[in-house]
Formats: sequence, structure tokens, C-alpha cells
Amino acid sequence: MKFFIDTANLDQIKEAQDLGVLDGVTTNPSLMAKEGITGDENVIKHYLAICDIVDANVSAEVISTDFESIIKEGEALAKLNEKIVVKVPMIKDGVKAIKYFTDHGIKTNCTLVFSAGQALLAAKAGATFVSPFLGRLDDIGTDGLGLIEEIRLIYDNYGYETQILAASIRHSMHVIECAKLGADVMTSPLSVILGLLKHPLTDTGLATFLADHAKAAAAAKA
Ligand code: G3P
Repeated sequence: MKFFIDTANLDQIKEAQDLGVLDGVTTNPSLMAKEGITGDENVIKHYLAICDIVDANVSAEVISTDFESIIKEGEALAKLNEKIVVKVPMIKDGVKAIKYFTDHGIKTNCTLVFSAGQALLAAKAGATFVSPFLGRLDDIGTDGLGLIEEIRLIYDNYGYETQILAASIRHSMHVIECAKLGADVMTSPLSVILGLLKHPLTDTGLATFLADHAKAAAAAKA
């Protein structure tokens, strides 16, 4: 399973990269705004800064919503760095644009996917990644993980190569369940990745090992 970090925060991206388990970065306009990145020039500089930190792919989202503008914006983003994956919303012109990008060798991440039908369209258009937002589905009392399961079944039925990128991950159990269901990728905040580390028995076990080692060393010296 690939691990992407879902943030535009450079310190958190560095921390995840240093951990050695990072396979990619996903951003969106809200995450950029959260870091105070505004204006086209600053947004571009920020994408380049992210690309400099990571040895992985970086999803950069278009803000255009009509076909011509999505193509123009996506091509400009893709030219910035070979790590860039153009993130395109699941709208009619977005599907057309994904097909265009696929035909022109540009990698895409189809975002804002909330149904199996949308995921099927993204795969038919040749999206590199499809991003079902499972946390936001859970937030409204529907079954986010059920959607991951449905998409896995549909893609396996037809051998679609589009990678399922479980997004809008809220906690460690989402990651575990997505791994069990066969999501190819998960993207989450750093806190969720670090949350996977934690187990109280690891902490107490380590404390005991270190204490026993210290006791034995002290006894040997006495
Ligand atoms: O990057 C897209 C997605 O992961 C957003 O997550 O937490 O805003 O629902 P969230």
C-alpha cells in the first residue's frame, strides 16, 4: 500500500519524507489556503518547494472547471516538474480533461469522488488515481469504506489500472480497513501516519527491556 501525505505544510511533508515511508503528496486548494499560500505565483513556488522535498509524486489541483481552462492549467502544472500529477475534479469537463491528459501522457488524480459510478467514469477516462473521499461520506452518515470495497470490486472485474487512492482519511483504523479492502494508496494527515506507530504494549515493553538491560549492566559492574 502506498502512503501519501495530505497536506501543503512543508515541515510535515519533510517529517514524513524523513520517516522513509512516503510515496507521494496530495494537496488541494483548501490545504494550500490553510498554509496561507495565495496567488498563482506563490502557489507554483509552493508546488516546486514540495517537489524539492519529496522523492515521490505530488498531486496539484486545477481550479478551472471548463475543459479548455483545465487543459491549459493542467499542462502548465505538469510542466513544472515530472513529479506533478494533475488533480482534476469529478465533473463532466473534468472527465473529458482526464481523457485528454491520459492521451497526452500526463498523470491524473480524479478528485471529489463519492460514488462507484464516478469511480467507473474516472477509470474509463484513464485516470492514474481515483480519490474517493471516505471521511466526508462517513461525516454524513454513509459508508465510506463500503465505497472503497465497491470500487475495488469493479476495477478488479475489468482490470482497470487506475489506482484507488483512499482520501479524506480521518484516523488509523481507516488506513487499516483500506489496506484490508485493497486500496492501492491512502492519503492522510501526518498525525494519522504517526498514529499507526502507537501501541501501549510497545511502550511498556520497551520500557521493561531498557530497565532490564540497565539492571543487568549495573549488576555486572557491581
Ligand atoms: O485531499 C483530499 C481529501 O483528502 C480531503 O480530506 O479531511 O478535507 O475531507 P478532508
